[in-house]
Amino acid sequence: MDHQSASNNGLEVIQLQCEYRTHWLGSDHLRPQFSWIIQSNQRSTIQYSYYIQVGLDSEDWTQLLWDSGIVVSDQSIQVKYAGSPLQSRTRYYYRVQIQDQQGRTSAWSEIQWWETALLDHTEWQAQWITPEEEWHNPQLESVFQLRKSFTLPENISSARIYATAAGLYELSINGTRVGDEWFTPGWTSYTHRHQYQTYDVTKYLQAGDNAIGISLADGWYTGRLGWENKRQHYGEHKALLLQLHVHYENGEEEIIGTDTSWHSAPSPITLASIYDGEHYDARLEQPDWDQPGYDDSLWSGVKVAELAYDHLIAQENWAVRVTEILTPVKVIHTPAGETVLDMGQNMVGRIRVTGIIPANTHYVIHHAEILDQQGNFYRGNLRTAKQAVHYIANDQQDRKINHVPRFSFQGFRYIQIEGLDHLTDQQLLEMVTGEVMHSDMPIAGSFECSHPLINQLQRNIVWGQRGNFLDVPTDCPQRDERLGWTGDAQVFIRTAAFNYNIAPFFQKWLRDLSADQRSNGSVPFVIPDVLSVLDEEKGDTELPASAAWGDAAVICPWVMYLHYGDQNLLQKQYSSMKAWVDYIYNQGSHHYLWNTGFHFGDWLALDAKENSYMGATPVDLVATSYFAYSTRIVRDTAVVLGQAADVKLYSERLEQIIQAYRHEFVTPAGRLAAPTQTAHALALMFDLLEERDQQRTATELNNLVIKNDYHLTTGFVGTPYLCFALSDHGYHETAIKLLLQEQYPSWLYPLSKGATTIWEHWDGIKTDGSFWPDDMNSYNHYAYGAIGEWLYRYVAGLDMDESIPAYKKSKIHPRYGEGEITSASAILEAAYGKIQSSWIEQADQRQLEVIIPANTTADIVLDHAILSSIQENGQLLHEIEGIHNIQEMQSTIIITIGSGHYHFVYQYQPISRLV
Ligand code: BGC
Repeated sequence: MDHQSASNNGLEVIQLQCEYRTHWLGSDHLRPQFSWIIQSNQRSTIQYSYYIQVGLDSEDWTQLLWDSGIVVSDQSIQVKYAGSPLQSRTRYYYRVQIQDQQGRTSAWSEIQWWETALLDHTEWQAQWITPEEEWHNPQLESVFQLRKSFTLPENISSARIYATAAGLYELSINGTRVGDEWFTPGWTSYTHRHQYQTYDVTKYLQAGDNAIGISLADGWYTGRLGWENKRQHYGEHKALLLQLHVHYENGEEEIIGTDTSWHSAPSPITLASIYDGEHYDARLEQPDWDQPGYDDSLWSGVKVAELAYDHLIAQENWAVRVTEILTPVKVIHTPAGETVLDMGQNMVGRIRVTGIIPANTHYVIHHAEILDQQGNFYRGNLRTAKQAVHYIANDQQDRKINHVPRFSFQGFRYIQIEGLDHLTDQQLLEMVTGEVMHSDMPIAGSFECSHPLINQLQRNIVWGQRGNFLDVPTDCPQRDERLGWTGDAQVFIRTAAFNYNIAPFFQKWLRDLSADQRSNGSVPFVIPDVLSVLDEEKGDTELPASAAWGDAAVICPWVMYLHYGDQNLLQKQYSSMKAWVDYIYNQGSHHYLWNTGFHFGDWLALDAKENSYMGATPVDLVATSYFAYSTRIVRDTAVVLGQAADVKLYSERLEQIIQAYRHEFVTPAGRLAAPTQTAHALALMFDLLEERDQQRTATELNNLVIKNDYHLTTGFVGTPYLCFALSDHGYHETAIKLLLQEQYPSWLYPLSKGATTIWEHWDGIKTDGSFWPDDMNSYNHYAYGAIGEWLYRYVAGLDMDESIPAYKKSKIHPRYGEGEITSASAILEAAYGKIQSSWIEQADQRQLEVIIPANTTADIVLDHAILSSIQENGQLLHEIEGIHNIQEMQSTIIITIGSGHYHFVYQYQPISRLV
């Protein structure tokens, strides 16, 4: 084949990515992975071979670092770099050409690039610095300004800054803010892994005088975290590390870094706290402090901070950015006399205030999620988090302001404004905008259907994800927690992967999980772990770990593998995954039952005893079920990674756990001893039962739901599985009824109370309008949003064959809406390209539109279809190109297709409803 010449033949390589990014500035991967998408004007396109080139010059492709040559392979995702060793601070260009199985050769793709950062920590010449002690009352959480002025010669060709902070930093050069990232350097397990960012600052520098200005805040490093008011989790002082590399046209390079020549001073931000908000005092402003020529002779100095370099890593996660601007929908004057603005959406981010305010104004913006029963502003559920932004103007008359908090985010729908009483409602509305902030993950999928309330539910799920994916997967974004609770992340991850590309987000978090995992394999409740220290301080030697929470160590990497096909991550997490299940194995006196220690159980389930958060499902049943599930995943991971001895070990162990489970929790006659919805759902979903007992258990689950008048009772553990367990065993109709249930408790009930996000409790607002107690009542908690996965996979029918990850083989299996939902559609930008499953039901006819990306295949599963009636684009099945196989199994037809865009229409038999 000729890979050199190619014509416009309908075969194209597009959307090249290096580790999920199109352009990537600042990577420290030694062997990054490449993926591309194939576009073809024909059906059933499969890549026959690829050719990838990596070089230093985007125009000259003769001097290459990697010339793969023609590699006969259908691999088009996660292709690992295999060229000469990469150098630091170098931009690499790459391009790809492919041939398909029909013999067509594509043109070379567009050229993309990535650029390395500092590949070796010895390249850090700069020193960690901290503002001098005299300014430094570490209890204050105030912000410091640091600056450095310097002179540069002419002929700068390019410049980069590598920067990080123990705390949070904001960078400006010559008075201009650099970059659009916020909350840098992000939150990691700082003691082990500390991210730095890379900036192309060429355009900000000038020949002559220059100045770098930094604002340095406490953030997660030294700021208050957790509900026990603890600060300084990672160190006593905030600090900065920055290195500027300036390149000149003559090839020379100059490095300017943080050292003791820098100056520091307090900033006008007198408080910046993740939970409490920000205080800005304009009277303390020092105009032009970050400009060249500013006289900083009265500023203090800085000291060298004794912080490490060997745990510095380049930015791994998507950056946090402002991704949407909301305008308030109305002003409310509450019965208590408060002036409140409604943003129309429970959002996470900050309020920007722009406009003119009188001299010496002091305004305060309070943030809250709801109004109370009387319609007053309600902050009780924030616990100790103040979430308040104060602004004190100076004595300048009619000052024009444009203010946002910079190092704090708030979770809110309503804001109460104090101190701007002279403004009309209209003026207030014009002055305020809401900036939505989260990790800037590319949107991956969408789901919609004929039922407006389900579409609102899907929107609430997405808003819950946006609000809680701010650098780490948090439980909630408003009260004094905002922590990376493992259980919540684990139950939601698969839904999350449908809505957004979460690969770098979870890669980072899982590396932190491994870093914070204890030496005995147990996994802290939250990652990054800021809670264990509280137990340690109390003298606890055996640190707690809970089933379904610690299992995030195993479930999350596996979901990432299924979704993105990245074996590299699986390999990296493998020892952490094994350590978790081995930890369980070593608990208590029984190797195969987990019946010791503390567990959250089926957290917040409605069958809990009065005043308890733990549902009625026995915690040892939940723990042992998860033990089996995680052991199975570790076994499957061992298969993928070719670890034969482990395959044997964990297969045998799994068998023993299942036997122990049956012995303990299933009666000899085959009845599940715990009569809860959650126990039944777990038994079915984790495959814990003898075959003869499965249908009986499913029928019992169905009965439990019917007896409860089609209402769920499940908590964090059972909820994600409930509808799957029903649909998989002939009770899809019941699952649909549960989904569409509008009376409390249900997914739709909160909508009747105006919810725009997912709530922590099924009854965050009770039917009588009163609230769940303030000790734990978040209105933005994504866990119950885990139903989203079932909407995509089982309602719209966009699913995968899990034996071939990353949708290399899709499974399109719409289960239809039992007359209640008459159309549904899901789209997913998956690793190989766009997948779509959209169906419409009219009388006894169904239409199904399917898109399958090139280099993949799909099984289309049509329940109750009449084979002879199936047409695709007006043609009968046997006449159609792209159909690989047709199987008829009982009442189901499975059509295997190649890539392409298909439009099926068919008749179906009246469904003989349910067993
Ligand atoms: C969090 C949860 C978390 C739980 C542990 C709560 O305070 O908000 O979502 O998983 O504690 O049970």
